[in-house]
Amino acid sequence: MAENSYLFGRERRLAPPPAEPGTLHRWIDHRKHIDSFLHAVLDEAIPGGASLAYVFGSGLLYLLLSQVITGMFLVLYYVPSADHAHTTVAYITKEVTSGSFIRSIHAYGSSAIVIVLLLHVTQTFLFGSYKGRRKLLWLAGCALFALMLGMSFTGYLLPWDQKAYFATTVGTNILTYIPFVGNSLKSLLRGGTEMGTLTLSRFFVLHVFLIPAFIFAFVAIHVFMFRKAGPAGPVQGEPEALKQSTEPFYPKQVLYDLIFAVLIIAGLGLLAHYAPVELGPKANPADTQYVPRPEWYYIPVFQWLKYWESGLAVLGILVIPAFVALLFVALPFLDRRPERRPWKRPVSVSIYGFVFIALGALGAISHRHDLRDPSIAPQLRKQRADVEAFMKKPFEPELAGPSLIAATVALTNPVAGKGKKVFDQEGCAECHGEDLTGTSAAPTLIGVGDKRDSAKLESILKQPTDAMTDGGMTPVELNEEDLKNLIAFLKALK
Ligand code: HEC
Repeated sequence: MAENSYLFGRERRLAPPPAEPGTLHRWIDHRKHIDSFLHAVLDEAIPGGASLAYVFGSGLLYLLLSQVITGMFLVLYYVPSADHAHTTVAYITKEVTSGSFIRSIHAYGSSAIVIVLLLHVTQTFLFGSYKGRRKLLWLAGCALFALMLGMSFTGYLLPWDQKAYFATTVGTNILTYIPFVGNSLKSLLRGGTEMGTLTLSRFFVLHVFLIPAFIFAFVAIHVFMFRKAGPAGPVQGEPEALKQSTEPFYPKQVLYDLIFAVLIIAGLGLLAHYAPVELGPKANPADTQYVPRPEWYYIPVFQWLKYWESGLAVLGILVIPAFVALLFVALPFLDRRPERRPWKRPVSVSIYGFVFIALGALGAISHRHDLRDPSIAPQLRKQRADVEAFMKKPFEPELAGPSLIAATVALTNPVAGKGKKVFDQEGCAECHGEDLTGTSAAPTLIGVGDKRDSAKLESILKQPTDAMTDGGMTPVELNEEDLKNLIAFLKALK
């Protein structure tokens, strides 16, 4: 414990030296603190010596740091509202220097956290390191596990593209299975019955302020408890032999941890560079065909839920998962024998293994289903193609004012949308203005749809009035189809 005294504030401050402290003295005094700090941080004794099996915890700390830093860069551009979120993420992805890279590191980082977390938990489980005085350490770890899942769930919505919107719709709907308070909980999380800007700002606050605050608190508790309990060491061995092979944290374990961090950096960097994370088209709540899919690590749970949608929903969606989670959290209290060797703990090891195999199987079933089911496979392929098409399109800034009217018309009415293209190709904007509000050469066209009916529009386009001809407007020469679309566009300008 003595070596930890600096960290844990047990050190008694010495009375200040009688002599007038000079710069040199202060420097030395300062160094003394650094030394004792380094001693406390680096000289932790590891029974049985350093091991590659112990790298996952520090790997998670590294990933957390990486998420905080990349997240801060993303927040520089992101706007959490239903009308701007998608455009700002598109801007990050398509325009900002290294924006796509940073965003990819952040998105892949969340997957990496899940993987390393599972490795960390599995190592802890197999080594029986949750036993004895480490019970509370395990509980703090479970809290961190839940918080991490909360982070990935809230983060998934933020880009506000189709998959974000529809996956989160499904995710928040699960809450309604909770008896009595389910619907209220769902409304609380969504900020209303529907998903919109209020949902997005709630998820943003959770993702950027609330959950991270809890994560920092629990990481501090977790690390503090770990330092108090000390490393568990190997699962077997004579106490005397372990003492013999005990090593300090520095240098060997530090080196192992660094190697692991470098592997993580290289892995994330390569993925982000060669397979940057995509963004799909903006969420369209009116789309009734969309087949939602969550992030890969939620797929097994997603598949599981499908089996329970009718009938015994409460049992499958709430009771069984809650029971498994409880079993997991209560593990150190259920399994109290000091035995740590996994081969001597067949029951708990088999249950643990079974849960993971079951999750893997559910994931595989879901994947097979998606590839083969004729009712969804074509839709999933179409969604894939939509994402690719959106990624190829250059960034389109948001339009403001009357041109927003044009954009909205184009979005809500596909025929008018085609007409807008004809309007742009024919150079109508040269006189009537990019934003349709008119120029010195011609009046505004906003409201023309109210003023004139389609037949009138057709006739004046084919045979412009004198005033129009005087203003330089020539008769349009278009095929039937284009003319029809152009008129639909003008009609929609109300
Ligand atoms: C060279 C300039 C010019 C171009 C290019 C031009 N217009 Fe015009 N347009 C005018 C002028 C000037 C008027 C208004 C004449 C008046 O009523 O005083 C007008 C009027 C109109 C009107 C009638 C507006 C109303 O309130 O009745 C429509 C509709 C119209 N233009 C559509 C188009 C379309 C569609 C195109 C592209 C195919 C186009 N214009 C291209 C100059 C132009």
